[in-house]
Amino acid sequence: MIKIAILASGSGSNALALIEYFRERKDVEINFVISNKRKSGVITHAAVNDIDHYIIDKEIFYESSLIDIKMKSRKIDLIVLAGFLWKIPDNLLKTFAGRIINIHPSLLPKHGGLGMYGLHVHRSVLDSKDEHSGISIHLVNENYDEGEIIFQKKCDVLITDTPESLADRVLVLEHENLPKQIDKFIKQEIVKQKTV
Ligand code: GAR
Repeated sequence: MIKIAILASGSGSNALALIEYFRERKDVEINFVISNKRKSGVITHAAVNDIDHYIIDKEIFYESSLIDIKMKSRKIDLIVLAGFLWKIPDNLLKTFAGRIINIHPSLLPKHGGLGMYGLHVHRSVLDSKDEHSGISIHLVNENYDEGEIIFQKKCDVLITDTPESLADRVLVLEHENLPKQIDKFIKQEIVKQKTV
């Protein structure tokens, strides 16, 4: 059994896409959801779907090993950041080297980095007059949005786009691709790492 933990701060639509995709699977389980916001949609999705969840406080996240310990005791294999806006502390990066994946709503390295989340990203794409935007799924390192990219998918930027309309189209791409790419990554990397 491969166990996934999701970290998310917002509405949790990507987390829900993952929960639904893996729901009937016997070999993969969404085991744990962590959020920094008690009232976030992701916590509701976790509760409704009977998934253990935990609200993390910033000081505890950065100044203790609590999350690292919780992940280890649950035997988590892979962490997915699905709209999680805090940098990952060194202890987690070390324990889960090559096993933390983030999704970002632009074609990285463009429009990534500190402060680049949600509509800020889509405004930046429109301000730059880019012809394309899209999604990036990448490994997480110590810098925002900078680890190795494992998947990208493009979409056109329309002349009529607003940040909101672009965000909606990009989000559909995220839901279509994140679960499949996580599944592929598990088969190609996580299962292999577990068997050596
Ligand atoms: C998603 O668009 C995700 O790509 C983005 O946050 C949104 C979360 O939406 N992540 C970032 O911007 C990370 N820099 P959701 O809560 O509906 O899944």
